[in-house]
Amino acid sequence: MLKDRHLIESNDFTLVEQEEIFELADQIIADQDKFLDACRGKLLATLFYEPSTRTRFSFEAAMLRLGGQIVGFSEPKSSSVSKGESTADTIRTIGCYADVAVMRHPKEGAPRLASKASTIPVINAGDGGHQHPTQTLTDLLTIRSLKKEIGNQTIGVCGDLKFGRTAHSLVKALAKYDNVHFIFISPPELTIPSYILDDLAEGTYELTKSLDDVMDRLDTLYMTRIQKERFFNEEEYLRLKGYYILTEEKLENAKDDMIIMHPLPRVDEICSNVDSDPRAVYFDQAKYGMYVRMALILKLLGLGGI
Ligand code: CP
Repeated sequence: MLKDRHLIESNDFTLVEQEEIFELADQIIADQDKFLDACRGKLLATLFYEPSTRTRFSFEAAMLRLGGQIVGFSEPKSSSVSKGESTADTIRTIGCYADVAVMRHPKEGAPRLASKASTIPVINAGDGGHQHPTQTLTDLLTIRSLKKEIGNQTIGVCGDLKFGRTAHSLVKALAKYDNVHFIFISPPELTIPSYILDDLAEGTYELTKSLDDVMDRLDTLYMTRIQKERFFNEEEYLRLKGYYILTEEKLENAKDDMIIMHPLPRVDEICSNVDSDPRAVYFDQAKYGMYVRMALILKLLGLGGI
């Protein structure tokens, strides 16, 4: 039962609850018209303290496609945050108007703090370098839909694994499925944090800096961006930017049924000529993101049984 719950980290829901969300997303994909009025009279608040295209637009599109309405800001300067109002006071106020809130924040833990002060469900839309649980729902639904199962695979997670919140959330979630082997591909400076590795069973992961060396073993390749905004030192960013650039040539050794994922936005880590490769599914991912967020909103509002 997900009504009135928060989603702050990717493992906040059980596998059974997660599967219920995916099954509802399947129903929405199969017959979207059936859900046109499902959220009539309900209001979603979007509180984005950091830029976003996919997450904010997909949440807003999700609520509008369910017949609900949206309020919010994409730029905190336009709210009383700019006068020094705390996150806790902001969310208590938003709870007077809206039924569910989505928050993106540059500080790790801000959505958790907000959830403790909130009278309405709070969804973490990405907090600093910590987690991005609705991206994970998006990623899992994409894998489940395109590979027919989530477990039983070798996944290469490549790029900025130190600050990459989408990678952190996804790894924690995938570790709960059977027979998932992780290959973490990153420059030594951007290796996956030990607190993520500590949760993984021995023998279920390996670390490398070479994508070429492991390409032929992957069932899923999850590319991520080297994130300029997380670096304190521009020189260091410029040195690491461009460490991985996926080209058609590099994919010659890849399996025919491997899928190439990316949470997006990309900078230069995937060449645009890879986009037409049938294995490239990152724009499908963006679409699954809207459907899974429709299902999530319905579940948190107790409307999933429609
Ligand atoms: N994947 C993702 O979070 O994209 P945005 O930053 O555009 O929301």
